[in-house]
Amino acid sequence: MSFSKQAYIETFGCQMNERDTEIMAQLLSQADYNITGDIDQADVVVVNTCSIRGKAEQKAMSLLGRLRLIKKKNPRLIVAVTGCVAQQEGSKIQARMGHVDLVVGPQSIYRLPELIKKVEQDGIKATAIEQAASFSIPSLLPDLAGTALPHKRFVTIMQGCNNFCTYCVVPHTRGREVSRSPEDIIDEIKHLVTHGVREITLLGQNVNSYGLDRQDGDYPDFPGLLRLVAAIPGVIRLRFTTSNPKDLSEDLMKCFAELDNLCPHFHLPVQSGADAVLKKMNRKYSIEQYLEKVEGLRKYSPDIAITTDIIVGFPGETDEEFAATMLLLEKVRYHSAYSFKYSDRPNTVSAGFENKVAEDVKAARLSRLQTRQQEITNEHYLAYVGQVVDIMVEGESRTGDGQWSGRTGTNHIVNFAGHVDIKPGQILRVKIDEACLHSLRGSLI
Ligand code: SAH
Ligand code: SF4
Ligand code: F3S
Repeated sequence: MSFSKQAYIETFGCQMNERDTEIMAQLLSQADYNITGDIDQADVVVVNTCSIRGKAEQKAMSLLGRLRLIKKKNPRLIVAVTGCVAQQEGSKIQARMGHVDLVVGPQSIYRLPELIKKVEQDGIKATAIEQAASFSIPSLLPDLAGTALPHKRFVTIMQGCNNFCTYCVVPHTRGREVSRSPEDIIDEIKHLVTHGVREITLLGQNVNSYGLDRQDGDYPDFPGLLRLVAAIPGVIRLRFTTSNPKDLSEDLMKCFAELDNLCPHFHLPVQSGADAVLKKMNRKYSIEQYLEKVEGLRKYSPDIAITTDIIVGFPGETDEEFAATMLLLEKVRYHSAYSFKYSDRPNTVSAGFENKVAEDVKAARLSRLQTRQQEITNEHYLAYVGQVVDIMVEGESRTGDGQWSGRTGTNHIVNFAGHVDIKPGQILRVKIDEACLHSLRGSLI
């Protein structure tokens, strides 16, 4: 029997938070904690929060509410809040919730073991939300020993965001853009591929401005970094997320024609189809410019799948402006779109805007948009029927009936009947037989 203590981590939000959770799990393991999936067995519970929309914040808050009860039964339980709500609210969280011991912002997660120790030994609670101007992302090679090796991993190339879209909390919670050194990024990826990882996704809120925060220009720009990473032997598939359209350069478009392992998928959040709304959002591009970028991408990579994010019901959004967004769906024909009702967020400029759109109007717009986008997505699916495509195996499908699933380079899920020798990360060739509602069905050839 092992005497190590148990830590439970719950993660909300984006891939940045998922990556931060991996780092915290690694740090806690090194500090002799076993990572458990059972919250009731835990000595430490970390709630890694997201603040992007009101709903995300409420989810984290309701877990914290439950933890108050769990802590009544187990008073020695240590509760830590990390992530974007931690950064945003700071010590207000402890003032409201006496059972929270630690509030730790995204830049301070590396201090988590030390802070937990202080709570254990001396009962010292803490709030660590400093945001240094010159913060550098510590190098921490993922520790894969003893764990089942995942076939795909995220690699952080930069943190923060300088764009200040008027609706968005990220620049407030994640601070300014800081790029990680190319050497660190490449070392990490080499380490991953020698441990069997086959797909790499480069991660940042705004990857197109990679390197631009370096005053002496000693880092490559983003296309330069992509070329370096693509050349690492063993990187079978390469992806990245996310990009602001305003910084999408022709050189980046060229990479899709040039680099065989760069997957033909581009997530290009548009947010609205109306110039006046984009202006109020501070997105710094017009729809005309956006469409030029889409065309450019398709010139270099004719089959590229373009996906997007859309906000409906931004303050002041009129019926005509919403209609412009609906029209954009027809013009671009996205492979898929993540769409959200606008939500007022703390410290954002748009929270102070007048003419907020009524909740029922937002709901009706969202539903119209999602219905139409679903049809377009299905039209894309139908176009795959009869085609032969290479997929990377994700794993056995949950149904457990010999069905496997994989992803196309364009990031669509393909389910197929497999056999016992298949392994996640393998590239297989399948013929697409059928388009389903949220996936494709194919057979091995
Ligand atoms: N860095 C990424 C976006 C990260 S947030 C980018 O710029 O593309 C993910 C998505 O959440 C955004 O693209 C936007 O569509 C949505 N979002 C952000 N703030 C929001 C808010 N206040 N209300 C509703 N949706 C929001
Ligand atoms: Fe938020 Fe805009 Fe930065 Fe994306 S680019 S993280 S939407 S501020
Ligand atoms: Fe959420 Fe913070 Fe990511 S607000 S979306 S966890 S950067």
